[in-house]
Amino acid sequence: MTDPDPLAVWRRYAGPCVLLDGFHALKHALRFGAEVPVAVTADRTAALALADELAPDVRGVLDGLLTEVTREAYASLVPRPHPTAVAALAVRPPRETGLRTLAHTPRRSPVVVLDQPRNLGNAGAVIRLAAGFGVTGVVTTGTLDPWHPTVVRGGAGLHFATAVERLEVAELPSGPLFALDPEGEDLRGLKLPDDALLAFGSERSGLSRELRARADHLVALPMRPQVSSYNLATSVAMTLYHWSAQGAHRACPDRRS
Ligand SMILES: C[S@@+](CC[C@H](N)C(=O)[O-])C[C@H]1O[C@@H](n2cnc3c(N)ncnc32)[C@H](O)[C@@H]1O
Repeated sequence: MTDPDPLAVWRRYAGPCVLLDGFHALKHALRFGAEVPVAVTADRTAALALADELAPDVRGVLDGLLTEVTREAYASLVPRPHPTAVAALAVRPPRETGLRTLAHTPRRSPVVVLDQPRNLGNAGAVIRLAAGFGVTGVVTTGTLDPWHPTVVRGGAGLHFATAVERLEVAELPSGPLFALDPEGEDLRGLKLPDDALLAFGSERSGLSRELRARADHLVALPMRPQVSSYNLATSVAMTLYHWSAQGAHRACPDRRS
């Protein structure tokens, strides 16, 4: 029996699946259990050498998965060729799975809520942070799709390491809601509980009225008076660092690349 044409397989899965653009996105997705029906590369030797160096834990899976295609065929599958010349498609986890993870109690790590975010790159960066800190999930409100290809690209394949869903404010999981706002109480004096919802406002207009109404605490990051605000993803990074610094079990000892 001949191997199936990888481009035909790609075409079959391209609609329902998400694009993993580059070696690192594929590596991360595999590490966190993504189902990857097809993966291609324009240079299999180079891709497997990268796996030897950076991802020996998934080298065997990559060896079985990666099919070499011509450079032209590879370039036709991606919006912009990646330096590693690797691309793959991954099955998006069912919404019910994400919702179950978000609703599960007791919650051992926070849920990050992005209230009506606008910038796809910011959302991707936040999902990467959430994965790094081992948080339960990232929820967006508003119109931005947190599984948009540009968000997945910014998340470096780490959507599979945390629950990522869009919800209405009224549907947010239970738990004390700490909303980040420059007018709030200084974060440095607060302990953020493991079951907290940590909410951040939109890049343009900050927290919505609805989100503020649901908030239990308004929390500020230290900032000089003349500065009006920090970037959204930067604010999430500082807040998650503060949460992680407060508990030994929140350390991240696994330092694979
Ligand atoms: C770019 S800021 C929003 C700026 C917006 N023009 C406003 O009116 O709030 C995006 C979000 O990051 C968080 N943020 C930024 N700087 C902050 C600070 N100093 N303290 C607390 N949260 C902050 C807030 O959640 C804010 O809604």
